[in-house]
Amino acid sequence: MQIQLVDNVLKAEDFVRLRRETGFADIPVEHAKKALANGLINVSAYCGDKLIGMGRLVGDGTMYWYLQEIIVLPEYQKKGVGTRIVNHLINYARENSKTCPFTTIGGVSAKGKEGFYQKLGFDVIPNGIKKMIET
Ligand SMILES: CC(C)(COP(=O)(O)OP(=O)(O)OC[C@H]1O[C@@H](n2cnc3c(N)ncnc32)[C@H](O)[C@@H]1OP(=O)(O)O)[C@@H](O)C(=O)NCCC(=O)NCCS
Repeated sequence: MQIQLVDNVLKAEDFVRLRRETGFADIPVEHAKKALANGLINVSAYCGDKLIGMGRLVGDGTMYWYLQEIIVLPEYQKKGVGTRIVNHLINYARENSKTCPFTTIGGVSAKGKEGFYQKLGFDVIPNGIKKMIET
């Protein structure tokens, strides 16, 4: 299976669809558009012409980086695509942190996906914090 990763071409409508197709809450397209525009980089994974996955990196662009929406469509999972997406984003962070003495890359793992991130060298930390804000 030939997979190609392409930076910053993801359309808001596809972002919403990939979220929906992997069980994440629906978001308005306008929010998806703004989120993509304000992120640092997004990567799309293609199998031929078909968009099969995505990943995003948000943060301050130099010291603190956060993975968001690492998504691979169910029929393409467990074939190494998620690993390629995350490593691509880690490389971007590394390249842009070279002159900084330290940098961290984090994220909030969806429940049950911790093992995927551990295989990529991430620690599951007990002191992470998170608050859902009611809107
Ligand atoms: C999590 C997700 C991105 C993984 O993508 P993937 O392409 O299937 O992952 P890979 O094929 O690169 O898997 C790499 C390794 O992690 C393992 N792995 C994958 N999902 C795992 C899970 N849920 N728990 C434990 N290990 C997992 C794989 O077995 C593989 O191990 P191996 O190298 O020993 O074979 C994908 O399952 C997905 O999109 N899920 C739905 C959306 C989601 O929940 N995303 C996470 C948001 S935080």
